[in-house]
Amino acid sequence: MQRITLTEYLARNAGEAALADLIECIASACWSISNLVNVSALAGHQGSTDEINPHGEVQKPLDILADEVFVRSCSANANLSALISEEVEEITWVNPAQTGAYVLAYDPLDGSSNLDVDLSVGSIFAVSKLRSDSAEDVLPNGRNLLCSGYAIYGPSTMLVLTFGDQVDGFTLDDSTDSFVLTHPNMKVPQQACEFAINVSRQRHWDETIQSYVSDCLKGAVGPRQKAFNMRWTASMVADVHRILIRGGVFLYPIDAENAAAGGKLRLLYEAMPMAMIVEAGGGGATDGRIPLIDVVATTPHQRTSVILGAREEIDLIRAAYS
Ligand code: AHG
Ligand code: MN
Ligand code: MN
Repeated sequence: MQRITLTEYLARNAGEAALADLIECIASACWSISNLVNVSALAGHQGSTDEINPHGEVQKPLDILADEVFVRSCSANANLSALISEEVEEITWVNPAQTGAYVLAYDPLDGSSNLDVDLSVGSIFAVSKLRSDSAEDVLPNGRNLLCSGYAIYGPSTMLVLTFGDQVDGFTLDDSTDSFVLTHPNMKVPQQACEFAINVSRQRHWDETIQSYVSDCLKGAVGPRQKAFNMRWTASMVADVHRILIRGGVFLYPIDAENAAAGGKLRLLYEAMPMAMIVEAGGGGATDGRIPLIDVVATTPHQRTSVILGAREEIDLIRAAYS
Protein backbone atom coordinates (compact mmCIF):
# COMPACT_ATOMS: atom_id res chain seq x y z
CA MET A 1 0.00 0.00 0.00
CA GLN A 2 1.28 3.47 -0.86
CA ARG A 3 2.32 5.30 2.33
CA ILE A 4 0.41 8.57 2.74
CA THR A 5 1.30 10.76 5.71
CA LEU A 6 -1.14 13.10 7.42
CA THR A 7 0.80 16.07 6.00
CA GLU A 8 0.40 14.78 2.42
CA TYR A 9 -3.26 13.96 3.03
CA LEU A 10 -3.99 17.43 4.45
CA ALA A 11 -2.32 19.13 1.49
CA ARG A 12 -4.84 17.32 -0.73
CA ASN A 13 -7.96 17.36 1.43
CA ALA A 14 -7.99 20.24 3.92
CA GLY A 15 -9.03 22.84 1.31
CA GLU A 16 -7.38 25.78 3.07
CA ALA A 17 -3.66 25.73 3.98
CA ALA A 18 -4.54 27.49 7.25
CA LEU A 19 -6.88 24.66 8.19
CA ALA A 20 -4.20 22.09 7.34
CA ASP A 21 -1.83 24.02 9.64
CA LEU A 22 -4.32 23.95 12.49
CA ILE A 23 -4.95 20.21 12.09
CA GLU A 24 -1.18 19.64 12.15
CA CYS A 25 -1.10 21.55 15.46
CA ILE A 26 -3.91 19.34 16.79
CA ALA A 27 -2.13 16.17 15.57
CA SER A 28 1.04 17.34 17.27
CA ALA A 29 -0.93 17.87 20.50
CA CYS A 30 -2.33 14.34 20.21
CA TRP A 31 1.16 12.92 19.63
CA SER A 32 2.39 14.68 22.81
CA ILE A 33 -0.64 13.48 24.80
CA SER A 34 -0.03 9.93 23.56
CA ASN A 35 3.50 10.16 25.02
CA LEU A 36 2.16 11.56 28.31
CA VAL A 37 -0.38 8.73 28.54
CA ASN A 38 2.35 6.14 27.87
CA VAL A 39 4.54 7.33 30.74
CA SER A 40 1.84 8.43 33.20
CA ALA A 41 2.75 5.84 35.88
CA LEU A 42 6.50 6.47 35.46
CA ALA A 43 5.99 10.23 35.70
CA GLY A 44 3.74 10.01 38.77
CA HIS A 45 0.73 11.30 36.85
CA GLN A 46 -1.85 8.77 38.05
CA GLY A 47 -4.57 9.26 40.65
CA SER A 48 -6.50 12.52 41.03
CA THR A 49 -5.72 16.16 41.72
CA ASP A 50 -7.60 18.46 44.13
CA GLU A 51 -8.90 20.48 41.17
CA ILE A 52 -12.52 20.46 39.97
CA ASN A 53 -13.43 21.13 36.31
CA PRO A 54 -16.44 23.18 35.05
CA HIS A 55 -18.65 20.07 35.31
CA GLY A 56 -17.89 19.51 38.99
CA GLU A 57 -15.66 16.50 38.17
CA VAL A 58 -12.37 15.92 39.95
CA GLN A 59 -9.56 16.37 37.41
CA LYS A 60 -6.87 13.77 36.79
CA PRO A 61 -3.33 15.13 36.37
CA LEU A 62 -3.51 14.22 32.68
CA ASP A 63 -6.81 16.08 32.15
CA ILE A 64 -4.91 19.25 33.09
CA LEU A 65 -1.68 18.37 31.27
CA ALA A 66 -3.51 17.35 28.09
CA ASP A 67 -5.41 20.64 28.13
CA GLU A 68 -2.13 22.57 28.48
CA VAL A 69 -0.69 20.62 25.53
CA PHE A 70 -3.66 21.61 23.33
CA VAL A 71 -3.30 25.27 24.35
CA ARG A 72 0.46 25.27 23.71
CA SER A 73 0.26 23.43 20.39
CA CYS A 74 -2.67 25.35 18.94
CA SER A 75 -2.56 28.90 20.28
CA ALA A 76 0.55 29.79 18.26
CA ASN A 77 -1.64 29.35 15.17
CA ALA A 78 -2.34 32.86 13.83
CA ASN A 79 -5.67 31.80 12.30
CA LEU A 80 -7.13 30.49 15.54
CA SER A 81 -9.36 32.82 17.52
CA ALA A 82 -10.86 30.81 20.34
CA LEU A 83 -10.52 27.59 22.29
CA ILE A 84 -13.44 25.86 23.99
CA SER A 85 -12.15 23.16 26.34
CA GLU A 86 -13.95 20.71 28.57
CA GLU A 87 -11.48 21.59 31.30
CA VAL A 88 -11.84 25.40 31.19
CA GLU A 89 -14.97 27.27 32.27
CA GLU A 90 -14.58 30.31 30.02
CA ILE A 91 -13.79 30.43 26.32
CA THR A 92 -10.08 31.20 25.80
CA TRP A 93 -9.47 33.92 23.22
CA VAL A 94 -6.04 33.56 21.66
CA ASN A 95 -6.70 36.17 18.97
CA PRO A 96 -9.49 38.78 18.67
CA ALA A 97 -12.84 37.66 17.24
CA GLN A 98 -12.61 38.02 13.48
CA THR A 99 -14.91 36.65 10.79
CA GLY A 100 -13.44 33.47 9.35
CA ALA A 101 -10.95 32.81 12.15
CA TYR A 102 -11.04 29.29 13.56
CA VAL A 103 -12.68 28.09 16.75
CA LEU A 104 -11.42 24.85 18.25
CA ALA A 105 -13.69 22.93 20.65
CA TYR A 106 -12.01 19.98 22.34
CA ASP A 107 -12.08 17.36 25.03
CA PRO A 108 -8.36 17.03 25.80
CA LEU A 109 -8.67 13.65 27.45
CA ASP A 110 -11.81 11.58 27.04
CA GLY A 111 -12.47 8.58 29.27
CA SER A 112 -9.92 9.74 31.81
CA SER A 113 -11.33 7.33 34.45
CA ASN A 114 -9.58 4.65 32.32
CA LEU A 115 -6.10 6.11 32.81
CA ASP A 116 -5.11 4.37 36.03
CA VAL A 117 -6.41 1.01 34.78
CA ASP A 118 -4.45 1.26 31.52
CA LEU A 119 -7.43 1.16 29.17
CA SER A 120 -7.98 3.25 26.06
CA VAL A 121 -8.52 7.00 26.34
CA GLY A 122 -8.70 9.66 23.65
CA SER A 123 -9.04 13.30 22.63
CA ILE A 124 -11.97 14.75 20.65
CA PHE A 125 -12.05 17.98 18.63
CA ALA A 126 -14.10 20.04 16.20
CA VAL A 127 -13.03 23.05 14.12
CA SER A 128 -15.44 25.76 13.02
CA LYS A 129 -15.19 29.36 11.81
CA LEU A 130 -16.34 32.51 13.52
CA ARG A 131 -19.40 33.71 11.65
CA SER A 132 -18.81 37.39 12.43
CA ASP A 133 -16.44 39.74 14.27
CA SER A 134 -18.62 39.31 17.33
CA ALA A 135 -17.51 37.11 20.22
CA GLU A 136 -21.23 36.26 20.59
CA ASP A 137 -20.95 34.11 17.46
CA VAL A 138 -18.28 31.81 18.83
CA LEU A 139 -20.37 28.71 19.59
CA PRO A 140 -20.13 26.26 16.68
CA ASN A 141 -23.12 25.23 14.66
CA GLY A 142 -23.02 21.50 13.80
CA ARG A 143 -23.90 22.02 10.12
CA ASN A 144 -20.98 24.47 9.71
CA LEU A 145 -18.20 22.40 11.26
CA LEU A 146 -15.17 22.31 8.97
CA CYS A 147 -13.56 19.28 10.46
CA SER A 148 -14.00 16.89 13.37
CA GLY A 149 -11.82 14.16 14.72
CA TYR A 150 -10.52 12.18 17.59
CA ALA A 151 -7.30 10.56 18.69
CA ILE A 152 -7.39 7.20 20.42
CA TYR A 153 -4.56 6.24 22.74
CA GLY A 154 -4.92 2.47 22.72
CA PRO A 155 -2.64 -0.41 21.70
CA SER A 156 -1.72 1.98 18.89
CA THR A 157 -2.32 5.72 18.70
CA MET A 158 -4.69 6.70 15.90
CA LEU A 159 -6.08 9.95 14.58
CA VAL A 160 -9.48 9.75 12.88
CA LEU A 161 -10.62 12.74 10.82
CA THR A 162 -13.51 13.95 8.73
CA PHE A 163 -14.15 17.06 6.66
CA GLY A 164 -17.73 15.87 6.29
CA ASP A 165 -17.67 13.64 3.25
CA GLN A 166 -15.70 10.63 4.44
CA VAL A 167 -13.80 9.40 7.48
CA ASP A 168 -10.10 8.57 7.34
CA GLY A 169 -7.94 6.99 10.03
CA PHE A 170 -4.20 7.47 10.58
CA THR A 171 -1.87 5.44 12.80
CA LEU A 172 1.05 7.02 14.63
CA ASP A 173 4.33 5.59 13.35
CA ASP A 174 6.72 5.93 16.30
CA SER A 175 9.73 5.34 14.08
CA THR A 176 9.05 8.56 12.14
CA ASP A 177 6.76 10.41 14.58
CA SER A 178 4.22 10.85 11.81
CA PHE A 179 0.63 9.79 11.33
CA VAL A 180 0.17 7.44 8.35
CA LEU A 181 -3.12 6.76 6.56
CA THR A 182 -4.02 3.17 7.50
CA HIS A 183 -7.84 3.24 7.53
CA PRO A 184 -9.09 5.14 4.45
CA ASN A 185 -12.82 5.72 4.04
CA MET A 186 -14.03 4.16 7.30
CA LYS A 187 -17.70 3.12 7.21
CA VAL A 188 -20.05 2.22 10.03
CA PRO A 189 -21.27 -1.32 9.19
CA GLN A 190 -25.02 -1.12 8.59
CA GLN A 191 -25.93 -4.28 10.52
CA ALA A 192 -25.48 -3.82 14.26
CA CYS A 193 -25.01 -6.72 16.66
CA GLU A 194 -23.54 -4.76 19.58
CA PHE A 195 -24.84 -2.00 21.80
CA ALA A 196 -23.00 0.19 24.29
CA ILE A 197 -24.79 1.75 27.22
CA ASN A 198 -24.02 2.16 30.92
CA VAL A 199 -26.49 -0.43 32.21
CA SER A 200 -26.01 0.67 35.83
CA ARG A 201 -28.31 3.59 34.95
CA GLN A 202 -31.19 1.36 33.85
CA ARG A 203 -33.52 2.45 36.67
CA HIS A 204 -33.32 6.03 35.34
CA TRP A 205 -34.05 5.28 31.64
CA ASP A 206 -37.20 6.34 29.83
CA GLU A 207 -39.54 3.76 28.27
CA THR A 208 -38.01 3.99 24.78
CA ILE A 209 -34.52 3.12 25.99
CA GLN A 210 -35.89 0.45 28.35
CA SER A 211 -37.70 -1.31 25.55
CA TYR A 212 -34.87 -0.88 22.98
CA VAL A 213 -32.33 -2.52 25.30
CA SER A 214 -34.79 -5.15 26.49
CA ASP A 215 -35.52 -6.13 22.86
CA CYS A 216 -31.76 -6.42 22.15
CA LEU A 217 -31.33 -8.62 25.20
CA LYS A 218 -34.08 -11.02 24.07
CA GLY A 219 -31.80 -12.18 21.26
CA ALA A 220 -32.88 -14.44 18.42
CA VAL A 221 -36.26 -15.28 19.97
CA GLY A 222 -37.10 -11.60 20.60
CA PRO A 223 -38.46 -8.97 18.20
CA ARG A 224 -34.96 -8.18 16.84
CA GLN A 225 -34.50 -11.85 15.85
CA LYS A 226 -30.77 -11.79 16.44
CA ALA A 227 -28.34 -11.91 19.35
CA PHE A 228 -26.71 -8.67 20.52
CA ASN A 229 -23.45 -8.38 22.39
CA MET A 230 -22.82 -5.51 24.85
CA ARG A 231 -19.67 -3.42 25.36
CA TRP A 232 -19.10 -0.34 27.53
CA THR A 233 -15.61 1.13 27.84
CA ALA A 234 -16.45 4.37 29.72
CA SER A 235 -14.53 6.18 26.99
CA MET A 236 -16.70 7.55 24.22
CA VAL A 237 -13.69 7.63 21.89
CA ALA A 238 -13.08 3.90 22.34
CA ASP A 239 -16.77 3.06 21.92
CA VAL A 240 -17.14 5.20 18.79
CA HIS A 241 -13.92 3.81 17.33
CA ARG A 242 -15.22 0.27 17.81
CA ILE A 243 -18.48 1.25 16.09
CA LEU A 244 -16.59 2.68 13.10
CA ILE A 245 -14.61 -0.54 12.75
CA ARG A 246 -17.05 -3.24 13.84
CA GLY A 247 -20.48 -1.62 13.97
CA GLY A 248 -23.06 -1.20 16.71
CA VAL A 249 -24.76 1.59 18.59
CA PHE A 250 -23.71 3.87 21.48
CA LEU A 251 -26.24 5.40 23.85
CA TYR A 252 -25.79 7.96 26.60
CA PRO A 253 -29.42 9.07 26.78
CA ILE A 254 -30.95 11.77 28.85
CA ASP A 255 -32.56 9.99 31.81
CA ALA A 256 -34.46 10.80 34.97
CA GLU A 257 -31.28 11.35 36.94
CA ASN A 258 -29.28 13.48 34.47
CA ALA A 259 -32.26 15.33 32.94
CA ALA A 260 -31.80 18.44 35.07
CA ALA A 261 -28.29 18.85 33.63
CA GLY A 262 -29.52 18.11 30.06
CA GLY A 263 -27.81 14.68 29.86
CA LYS A 264 -24.23 13.61 30.56
CA LEU A 265 -22.14 14.17 27.44
CA ARG A 266 -21.13 17.61 26.28
CA LEU A 267 -22.50 18.88 22.97
CA LEU A 268 -19.63 20.90 21.53
CA TYR A 269 -16.61 18.70 22.17
CA GLU A 270 -18.10 15.21 22.54
CA ALA A 271 -21.48 14.81 20.86
CA MET A 272 -21.22 17.16 17.87
CA PRO A 273 -17.78 16.07 16.59
CA MET A 274 -18.67 12.40 17.03
CA ALA A 275 -22.00 12.95 15.27
CA MET A 276 -20.20 14.52 12.31
CA ILE A 277 -17.78 11.58 12.15
CA VAL A 278 -20.43 8.87 12.45
CA GLU A 279 -22.67 10.56 9.85
CA ALA A 280 -19.75 10.98 7.44
CA GLY A 281 -19.13 7.25 7.93
CA GLY A 282 -22.69 6.46 6.87
CA GLY A 283 -24.18 6.06 10.37
CA GLY A 284 -26.67 8.19 12.26
CA ALA A 285 -26.61 10.39 15.37
CA THR A 286 -29.59 11.78 17.24
CA ASP A 287 -30.53 13.22 20.60
CA GLY A 288 -33.70 11.10 20.30
CA ARG A 289 -35.70 13.87 18.61
CA ILE A 290 -33.46 15.58 16.05
CA PRO A 291 -30.09 14.92 14.42
CA LEU A 292 -27.35 15.70 16.93
CA ILE A 293 -25.65 18.12 14.59
CA ASP A 294 -28.82 20.25 14.57
CA VAL A 295 -28.85 20.67 18.35
CA VAL A 296 -28.20 24.37 18.97
CA ALA A 297 -25.55 25.31 21.51
CA THR A 298 -26.41 28.19 23.79
CA THR A 299 -23.57 27.66 26.30
CA PRO A 300 -20.05 26.24 25.83
CA HIS A 301 -20.50 23.31 28.20
CA GLN A 302 -24.07 22.38 27.28
CA ARG A 303 -24.94 18.71 27.67
CA THR A 304 -27.10 16.54 25.46
CA SER A 305 -28.60 13.11 25.03
CA VAL A 306 -26.45 11.04 22.61
CA ILE A 307 -27.51 8.06 20.50
CA LEU A 308 -25.28 7.20 17.54
CA GLY A 309 -24.12 4.35 15.37
CA ALA A 310 -25.55 2.06 12.69
CA ARG A 311 -28.19 3.84 10.64
CA GLU A 312 -30.81 1.11 11.09
CA GLU A 313 -30.57 1.26 14.91
CA ILE A 314 -30.78 5.05 14.95
CA ASP A 315 -33.85 4.99 12.70
CA LEU A 316 -35.48 2.43 14.97
CA ILE A 317 -34.83 4.43 18.14
CA ARG A 318 -35.90 7.71 16.54
CA ALA A 319 -39.12 6.11 15.31
CA ALA A 320 -39.78 4.77 18.82
CA TYR A 321 -39.34 8.29 20.26
CA SER A 322 -41.70 9.84 17.75
P1 AHG B 1 -14.49 12.52 30.19
O1 AHG B 1 -13.45 11.53 30.66
O2 AHG B 1 -13.98 13.44 29.13
O3 AHG B 1 -15.16 13.26 31.31
O4 AHG B 1 -15.63 11.74 29.40
C1 AHG B 1 -16.23 10.59 29.92
C2 AHG B 1 -17.52 10.37 29.21
C3 AHG B 1 -17.46 9.49 27.99
O5 AHG B 1 -16.22 9.34 27.40
C4 AHG B 1 -17.98 8.15 28.45
O6 AHG B 1 -18.73 7.53 27.44
C5 AHG B 1 -18.82 8.48 29.65
O7 AHG B 1 -18.42 9.75 30.10
C6 AHG B 1 -18.68 7.47 30.72
O8 AHG B 1 -19.69 7.65 31.62
P2 AHG B 1 -19.96 6.66 32.87
O9 AHG B 1 -19.08 7.18 33.96
O10 AHG B 1 -21.42 6.82 33.13
O11 AHG B 1 -19.60 5.26 32.44
MN1 MN C 1 -15.12 13.12 27.38
MN1 MN D 1 -12.31 14.75 29.13
